[in-house]
Order: sequence, then C-alpha cells, then structure tokens
Amino acid sequence: MRSVAVIGAGKTAFGAFPDRDLRSLAVEAGEKCLANGHVAPAQIESFYLGNFAGPAFVGQNHLAPYVSTALGIHGVPATRIEAACASSGSAFFHAWAEVAAGIYDVVMVVGVEKMTSQPTARVSQILAEAGDCSGEMKAGSTFASLFAMIARRHMHDFGTKKEHLSAVAVKNHANGALNPDAQMRKVITLEQAMNGRPVADPLNLYDCSLVSDGAAAVILAPLERAAEFTDKPVRVLGVAQASDYVALDQKESITTFPAVRRAAEKAYRMAGVTAADIEFAELHDCFTIAEIIATEDLGFVERGCGGPYVFAGHTTRTGERPINTSGGLKAKGHPVGATGVAQICDLVLQIRCQAGERQIPRHSLGLAQNLGGSGATCVVSILGAA
Ligand SMILES: CC(C)(COP(=O)(O)OP(=O)(O)OC[C@H]1O[C@@H](n2cnc3c(N)ncnc32)[C@H](O)[C@@H]1OP(=O)(O)O)[C@@H](O)C(=O)NCCC(=O)NCCS
Repeated sequence: MRSVAVIGAGKTAFGAFPDRDLRSLAVEAGEKCLANGHVAPAQIESFYLGNFAGPAFVGQNHLAPYVSTALGIHGVPATRIEAACASSGSAFFHAWAEVAAGIYDVVMVVGVEKMTSQPTARVSQILAEAGDCSGEMKAGSTFASLFAMIARRHMHDFGTKKEHLSAVAVKNHANGALNPDAQMRKVITLEQAMNGRPVADPLNLYDCSLVSDGAAAVILAPLERAAEFTDKPVRVLGVAQASDYVALDQKESITTFPAVRRAAEKAYRMAGVTAADIEFAELHDCFTIAEIIATEDLGFVERGCGGPYVFAGHTTRTGERPINTSGGLKAKGHPVGATGVAQICDLVLQIRCQAGERQIPRHSLGLAQNLGGSGATCVVSILGAA
C-alpha cells in the first residue's frame, strides 16, 4: 500500500445561501481546492462526490458528472457516494483507497449539500430517511428525537447532566465565532445554552447542528509525488470506515457506537498511534451528545466520562485536546454531504498552521470522525504533518 497525502484543500463558507445552487457551491469549493493544490482539472484521474440527498433537497440526481464536468474534469470515473451524514467521509475513504492501491495517482473528492431550499419540516423528513423507514420513520422519529433518546439513556446510565451537553455548545459556538467561514459566529453563555427553545427533550436549539448549504473539496496523491504539487502536503496516516445497524432498536446499546470503535481501532493501527497521541480532533457533533459519546468511543476518555471531560474544559482551544476548533457542525454548520471533507479541510488548516485566530499550538496529529445516521456508518481519518 502506498502512503497518501492531501495536496490541496478548499471549501465554501457554510450558511443559508438562497441565491446559490448546489453545483455553484461544489464548483467554488472544487476550484479553490485545485488552486490550493496547484492541480489542473486535466490532471484529475478519478473524481468522487459525497452527497446525501441532492435528489430530495434540490431535485438533481446523477450528481458526480454533473459537478465534475462543471469543474472541467472530463472522461474520468466520476462516482457519487451516499452514506447519510458520512457521505463525503466515505468518499474520502474510497479516494484514499484508490490512491493507496496504486489504481490512480491524483484523485479529487468534493462533498456538497444544499439544504436550505426546503423548509425545516421537510429537511427533518429528508434527514430521517437516513434512519430506518420501516420502523423509526413510521413511528414519527426525527434525528433530533433519536439523539434525544440517546442523550436520555446516557444521562440515566452515566449521570451525564444537561450542563455537560450545553458545555459542548458553548465551546463550539466560541470556536465558530473565530471561523470566518462558519454559519453561526455567535458566542453563547452556559445559561443561554441551557435555556434554548426545546426541540426534543433533553435537547434544545443549542444542542442541534445547523441546517446549511456548503461544499468542501480535497485532492489526494501518493506522498512520493506530493512535492510536484505543493510544499505543504499533509499525510493521511490512517483512515477506516465501519458500519452497524441503521435502527436504534437493533443496537445492543444506544450509548456507544460500535462503528466508531471499529473504525477508530483500524485507523489507529494503520497510523501506528493510540488515542492518547491525538493532539486535536474534528468530531461529528450533529447533536451535543454525539460529541460526548465520540470522545468515549474514540478512547479519549473512559465510557461515561465524556460529559465531565468537556465540562472541565479539556477540549477547548487551550485545553489538553482541542475538539472542533472549526466550530463543529454546531456552529460552523452541517451541510450533511459536505461535512466529512470539511472536517479534513479543517485538519489540514491546523496542521499547515493556517487556522488564523483558531490556530492551536499542538497541531501535528489530528483526527476526524464523521458519523452517518445514528451510528450506522463511521469514517475515522488521522492526518499528520508530512
Ligand atoms: C433545531 C432546528 C429544528 C431549528 O430550526 P428552525 O426552528 O427552523 O429555526 P429557524 O431557522 O427558524 O431559526 C430561528 C432562530 O434560531 C437560530 N437557529 C436555528 N437553528 C439553530 C441551531 N441549530 N443552533 C443555534 N441556533 C439556531 C437561527 O439562527 C434563528 O436565529 P435568529 O432568530 O436570531 O435569526 C434546526 O436547526 C434543525 O433541524 N437542526 C438539526 C439538523 C439535523 O438534524 N441534522 C442532521 C443531524 S443527524
């Protein structure tokens, strides 16, 4: 297997952009990425598009060539990957596999979603299709209600408190306020976070990620060729994807996600590191409880200790292991099909020391965890300075 590097990265701002369509967002991210990697469209040998629900959100299918040709990329394999909110994390994994296996050298991955073209009720319904339509959806579940059950169970089993959930929101809003590309650049207090408008008890407005439009892109190449393109390659040290049941009622436990544990174990082994070595991370905080459980499933803390860990400040920018310095899905935004690649872009920014006001001092080994649905897909990627 060959060593692989990210040679280019680029993304749009995340937000609600009524005047932008899906393709223009994907093209903006793609063009920024090509320029960042000093790669011409004709040099791209394979193209992946991560997108969850373009057909439902904007009525467009066959999205991979729809976007690749608009970027001037012609004739090469153009493949769309759908894995709920882990769509572009999975696209990244498949692109990495192609380069690592020696099938292609220069592979581009774009993640995109345009969600705000639909009203919130319809957005919730489309997102719910990433759950089990024959059971959960029939019972009227939304992802907020599924993660509310997960939060309630975590509180019951481990004594996790509402303050712990709210501490995730306060931290991620503080980080988002420093990110010029974030959808929500608003600092909030613990009191505000605790008293947000109820969504699905115990989750309120501030426990939920945002409904967003946006796109992100990266280009991968063999490490040995990276210097042809950039003097700032970032190495992909480990990456793994794992899966689990879609429906919550099929899972043995709803307070841990085996797909995260499996993907993390493989990625750590591939990178030759342990959880303790990870200096910073972008985690999938689709709801605040999801970030807490991720810190446990990734082995940053023991099971049940994620709440007190964030509440004690260990995951702030100045803490022992900063988490979601981008603002996370909570404040940066969550255009679901773009999120996995956007996490990679944020790791690249930190590792290259280009994160501006959000730059953290220890930034040579970062991890991204991208979750699909309520844990049915997970991709864990570990990136480091080349
Ligand atoms: C929580 C949620 C229902 C709120 O949507 P909404 O009720 O339509 O809210 P609106 O868009 O009308 O916004 C109302 C206000 O709340 C703010 N707001 C909306 N969502 C917010 C969020 N998640 N966090 C903080 N503030 C939020 C808006 O900025 C707006 O503020 P303003 O009045 O100061 O302008 C929606 O954000 C949501 O569904 N989030 C979860 C998305 C999701 O499930 N993703 C997939 C995860 S698996």
